[in-house]
This record gives sequence, C-alpha cells and structure tokens, in this order.
Amino acid sequence: MVYGRAKVINKKIEEILNAQINKEFYSAYLYLAMSAYFDEIGLKGFSNWTKIQAREEVDHGMILFDYLIARNGNVDLKHIEAPDCDMQNPLQVFEKIYAHEKTVTESIESVAGMTESECDLATRNFIDWYIAEQVEEEANVLDIIKKLKMFGEEKSILYHIDIELSKREYKHHNYSC
Ligand code: FEO
Repeated sequence: MVYGRAKVINKKIEEILNAQINKEFYSAYLYLAMSAYFDEIGLKGFSNWTKIQAREEVDHGMILFDYLIARNGNVDLKHIEAPDCDMQNPLQVFEKIYAHEKTVTESIESVAGMTESECDLATRNFIDWYIAEQVEEEANVLDIIKKLKMFGEEKSILYHIDIELSKREYKHHNYSC
C-alpha cells in the first residue's frame, strides 16, 4: 500500500526504511509468539520479558514510520510473515532470539551503509540510535543465554531466572526521543 505523498527522501533510502519497518513489526510478532509459548509452559517472567520486547519492536517500527513521514517519504506497509513458532525450551528460544537479532543488526548496518553511499547524512545520523539499540539487545540476550547454559537444567535456578525476567518494565521510545 502506498499513500500519495510527494517524495523528498531518496527512493533507495525510502525503500530500505520501509523494509526495516516490516522487519521490526515481524520481530514484534516473533516475540509475541514466544511470550505466548512461555505463558503456556508457566514461565510468566520469560513471558513478560518477551512481551515487553514485542512492544519495544513496535516502537522501533513506529520510530521509522514517523521518521519517514517527517522526511515527507511514502510509508509502504507490506505483508507481515507469520512468526517461526518452533519453540522447544527456554535456551532454544533465546538462541533463536540471538540469531534473529543478529540478522536485524546486519539489516540496520545495511541501512547505515546505504545512507553513506547515498550521502543521506540525516538518515545516517538517525540510524545511529538503532545501531546502539542492537548492541544493547544482543548483549542482554547473550547474558540470558549464558545463565541458561550455566544453570538452566536446574529447575530451581530456572525459577529464579524467571523471577528476574518478570521485573523487566516497558520503556516507551518514540521518534522525538
Ligand atoms: Fe528492533 Fe530487536 O530489533
């Protein structure tokens, strides 16, 4: 779907930002599916953590959406794929998250690369927030993976990790931040 706005932003940048919006909303779907899985197996803290991550992914998509509009670009919303629902245990799910976030990081780096080749310094500056966000996300996920690898087989420790993850609180991000 393409709405009729006069374009100012470079077409290649517009396309890659629209593709990134789709990836962020897919990420939200993926985390929601994970949240439902954790809820089903009784890990409410894991469910909370992934549900909050889903909300943050919606924010990531909306920041791109608002930025495109601020640059008088066309928002082109595409079909969102159904999420991968193969979930077997907490460690396997978090390894899936880590692999997914690495692909998102590569995607953000591609956006940054294109802003440089297209000399779009405003978008180059804008995308820095996402680069920093990806570093933080990968580090947080890796931290949880390490704990699960070290202690996850022990049910009492898994219970404590679940309590820890139940403390995560949602922090809203928007374009003006
Ligand atoms: Fe929006 Fe998890 O990257």
